[in-house]
Amino acid sequence: MRKQFYLTTPIYYVNDVPHIGHAYTTVAADILARFNRLKGKDVFFLTGTDEHGQKVEKAAALSRLTPKEHADKMVENFKNLWEKLNISNDAFIRTTDDKHIEVVRNILGKLYDKGEIEKRPYSGWYCTPDERFWTEKEIIDNKCPECGRAVERIEEENYFFFMSKYRERLINYINNNPDFILPETRRNEVLGFLKSQNLGDLCISRPKKRLSWGIPLPFDENFVTYVWFDALLNYYSATMYLAPEGNSSDYWPAGHHLVGKDILTTHAVYWSTMLMALDMPLPKNIFAHGWWTVEGQKMSKSLGNVVDPFKIINTYGSDAFRYFLVREVTFGLDGDFSEKAIIGRINSDLANDLGNLVSRGISMLGKYFNGIVPEPEGVEDEIRDLSENRILQMEEGLAGLSFEKSLNALWEIISYLNKYIDNNKPWVLAKDEADRGRLSTVIYTVIEGLRFVAIYMYPFMPHSAKILYKAITGKSEIKGIHLEEALKWGGLKSGTEIKEKLQLFPRIDTRKKETKTDMMMKDSPVNKERQVKEDGTAGEYIDIRDFSKVKLKTGKILSAERVEGSNKLIKLSVDTGEPRQIVAGIGKNYEPETLVGKTIVVVANLKPARLMGVESQGMLLAASDNNSLSIITPESEVTPGSSVG
Ligand code: ME8
Repeated sequence: MRKQFYLTTPIYYVNDVPHIGHAYTTVAADILARFNRLKGKDVFFLTGTDEHGQKVEKAAALSRLTPKEHADKMVENFKNLWEKLNISNDAFIRTTDDKHIEVVRNILGKLYDKGEIEKRPYSGWYCTPDERFWTEKEIIDNKCPECGRAVERIEEENYFFFMSKYRERLINYINNNPDFILPETRRNEVLGFLKSQNLGDLCISRPKKRLSWGIPLPFDENFVTYVWFDALLNYYSATMYLAPEGNSSDYWPAGHHLVGKDILTTHAVYWSTMLMALDMPLPKNIFAHGWWTVEGQKMSKSLGNVVDPFKIINTYGSDAFRYFLVREVTFGLDGDFSEKAIIGRINSDLANDLGNLVSRGISMLGKYFNGIVPEPEGVEDEIRDLSENRILQMEEGLAGLSFEKSLNALWEIISYLNKYIDNNKPWVLAKDEADRGRLSTVIYTVIEGLRFVAIYMYPFMPHSAKILYKAITGKSEIKGIHLEEALKWGGLKSGTEIKEKLQLFPRIDTRKKETKTDMMMKDSPVNKERQVKEDGTAGEYIDIRDFSKVKLKTGKILSAERVEGSNKLIKLSVDTGEPRQIVAGIGKNYEPETLVGKTIVVVANLKPARLMGVESQGMLLAASDNNSLSIITPESEVTPGSSVG
């Protein structure tokens, strides 16, 4: 019977572009998916994007797009990155998929009918950027204990999921299933959290008047679902409409949810209790990996050190990047990125050990046998056993998510073959015709060994593995091979011709290369825009020339009406010396009729954009804090079209 293997990455927020952290989890998952496919399992590897909630709504407003338009644009960045990184996901879920929304609404309805959800008045301190409520005790000087930004007091009615009643059951479940949360240190953290805190109930709704970008509750359309409640359900909803072979829910429960340590609580506690309430089995494993810092510092936009995976791939190649990510740091622990570290890995492991072995082996075959694989005189038992058996170590390593252990299995073969060449000195054997037989054995052994190397490296470095495998066997695909058969020594037939010269991982000359190239996303327009808005600073100074590029003018509002289907957007007709139409996101703060006759300040040379299908030729200026928004008007009457600055 074939075995199913379902694994997931987090679904990433589309409020920003992907960075090295997103690449990390997805590469790790891809390695597992590729290996398990080789093992003949029915793999369902899911990744995707988390598209609802306040973060996305805010980012969309900054880009002057509707949330869906913004998501449609941003999702492409993730899809492109996965393509460049050779990610073999079987499906890509978006939480704005109609089918996902349907499943979420069904499940909410089911939980409501079962009495697992109730409406309660609620007051608490709310951190808007983190979309989280905090208690009085938790906040520090009126600031969010997590991000340090100001919290606001909110009093409203909301829907709550009875999470607290599952506390005991969850503690027991974690204790009885040691592989459920890994690594062990993280499991202990979750247990500590559950035991020390009085686990509360989970607020799973947001009033539409505060947040409209979410899935409406099926039992109360005045509310949308809390973004995490929607997001976590993706793991289940995907099995209903995106799973391979029949789109059935047979894939549930998932084998692994790979997540970063930042979102372990939401997975281990929120998700598990949601599943308990639904009488559904829990995932077999949630693995929380560590956090990447950059040259010892936390990655952050204000420091301008967010590592851009596209730049790394363009400079060093996707395989080298994939290898670096899982080799450099034990999965589960924190790691530090520096360009020096990636160059170090490439030069020592990939160029020196692996690349060298490949180019030496194949060029010796060319030189001594004209590229035709010779007939060996016998079998070298040691390397045969090593090559055939290391698969067990690799499998054991990957089953426990120890990429280190599984890569060690591959490197034992590589090191053995390098030493084997050094010890047997084919260049000496080649000098004496009497040693021709021995030379045939040595060269056959090296090339056959390389065939194993190609298979073993495939999950980690699929692109280079395929090139090597094709050069040796003539077959362009590794993914469909029958592993047991392919891993039998002697699979390579004498007489096979290998003409190609391969240099898989050229050495990087650090003397020629500037020590610091720019792997950061300093220039990402999304970052800059966000930085300006969120910190209130641009993160760097602009000079007067930059400022003078912005043409500000006064304008008189001639008419105003709401954009159909939006409670936020108002369409204005404005006289700025010439008539123009402006769409402004001020509908929650102003009624259209109160705007007519006001003189406002307009960014007059902003590229026109479409908001909910309506063209906006510019933008008005407004001041906002957490509670209110106020449009900027000149102190006294000026002619429409006067310059501001
Ligand atoms: O949290 N080091 O999405 P997100 C390592 N939408 N991994 C990192 C990282 C870093 N510095 N930064 C990010 C969300 N990651 C939710 C998830 S799932 C139902 C909903 C990785 O875009 C890591 O996997 O903020 C982390 O958990 C994830 O990106 C967070 O991605």
